[in-house]
Amino acid sequence: MKVFVVGGGGREHALVWKIARSPLVKEVHAFPGNAGIAEYAVIPALPDDRPETLLDYARRERFDLTVVGPEKYLAQGIADLFATEGIPLFGVTKEAAQLESSKIFAKRLMAEAGVPTARFVAVSSLEEGRAALRSFSYPLVMKADGLAKGKGVSIVADREAAERELSGFIGGRFKDAGKRVVIEEFLDGEELSLILLTDGLSWRTFPFAQDHKRAFEGDTGPNTGGMGAYTPVSIGTETLLGKCEERIVGPLLEILRRKGIGYRGVLYIGLMMVEGEPYVLEYNVRFGDPETEVLLVSLESDLVPYLRAVCEGRLGEMPPLSFREGAAATVVVASGGYPGSYRKGLSIGGIDFLDRSVFLFHAGTVRTPEGRLVTAGGRVFMVTAHGDSLATAVAQATDNAGRILFDGAFFRRDIAHRELRRITR
Ligand code: AMP
Ligand code: GLY
Repeated sequence: MKVFVVGGGGREHALVWKIARSPLVKEVHAFPGNAGIAEYAVIPALPDDRPETLLDYARRERFDLTVVGPEKYLAQGIADLFATEGIPLFGVTKEAAQLESSKIFAKRLMAEAGVPTARFVAVSSLEEGRAALRSFSYPLVMKADGLAKGKGVSIVADREAAERELSGFIGGRFKDAGKRVVIEEFLDGEELSLILLTDGLSWRTFPFAQDHKRAFEGDTGPNTGGMGAYTPVSIGTETLLGKCEERIVGPLLEILRRKGIGYRGVLYIGLMMVEGEPYVLEYNVRFGDPETEVLLVSLESDLVPYLRAVCEGRLGEMPPLSFREGAAATVVVASGGYPGSYRKGLSIGGIDFLDRSVFLFHAGTVRTPEGRLVTAGGRVFMVTAHGDSLATAVAQATDNAGRILFDGAFFRRDIAHRELRRITR
């Protein structure tokens, strides 16, 4: 098979790595890719990454499968476009991608399906917003309806802050993405990620993973795309998985079917555990990043037959995914200043000194025309390790992250801190 992976972050590097290991796969291409992906995949020189350009390339190269990483392309309708030409693509349609691209769409669907989630009101003017605020206590949560690069969520402590945030959202701080706002109840608990493959009827789950969204140790500092992750999570028991499938996955897929919305791709459920019960914070329509890195190094099964089965609507024929014993952890090495502004083009050293058993997934890296490896993004590497125990995996990923050198590089030394305290207690 010839496979095309769309995207260029750590998640896509992990996907390319896993797909390239499949005995079914002869050749992998990727776009826009990064310096790490370039070691396994052909990266074409395309003029841009518009869905039309990608379709044109896929048609020319006659790929057997195209796999889409980021939500951006799905929200732009890349799956619909490929479908018009009958070109196989793993990823949901534009209509289904609203589950991530519109929080109001997602919340309304959850309410209709009876999926446990924070109580909410959707508003689109200051007047409506002010009226809605009266029915909430503080803290409360305000979310831009549309895609806002993970920055469209604000937790507000009091009425004054709520008024200020509301004016900011409605006033256009997130352009059109924030002109409609979800106001919702604050849920206090521990977050968990549940990721699964589905063809809309059947699903196959990955083990629970936990991400670390804050920039700095001790879960302080601004929210980021994720600074590290690990799997499995001890609170993610079989019982919890059963509850999630029964209360969240089943009802969601059923209501999508009832509305005639096909769903073939990834479903990522961002959960908040409140007193042992799962509530949905958000749905994403793609693999999590950096959760995917730890899930794929743990995955024993060949991923490719599953991706194909999803596309062909026959996932129900596939056995459960199987995973290696042990645990995996990933530590993100980021550019100084991230998630705010940061420099690019900084020379990277040290990667030749990593342990051979470590998976070094690149995110924001490129090679200069002279072949020098330099930074090109906020998150630069996801240093990933698998071990017999979580403690070993975390220690190895953290230690190796420290060997990577570039100006201003930083990473968290406390990935999996909650779990490590829990399991050594
Ligand atoms: P979201 O993009 O909806 O996942 O929100 C981003 C982050 O904001 C989540 O990962 C949580 O840490 C936090 N968050 C979102 N909604 C809530 C809520 N209702 N209660 C508490 N925290 C929340
Ligand atoms: N790690 C969080 C996300 O992928 O959205």
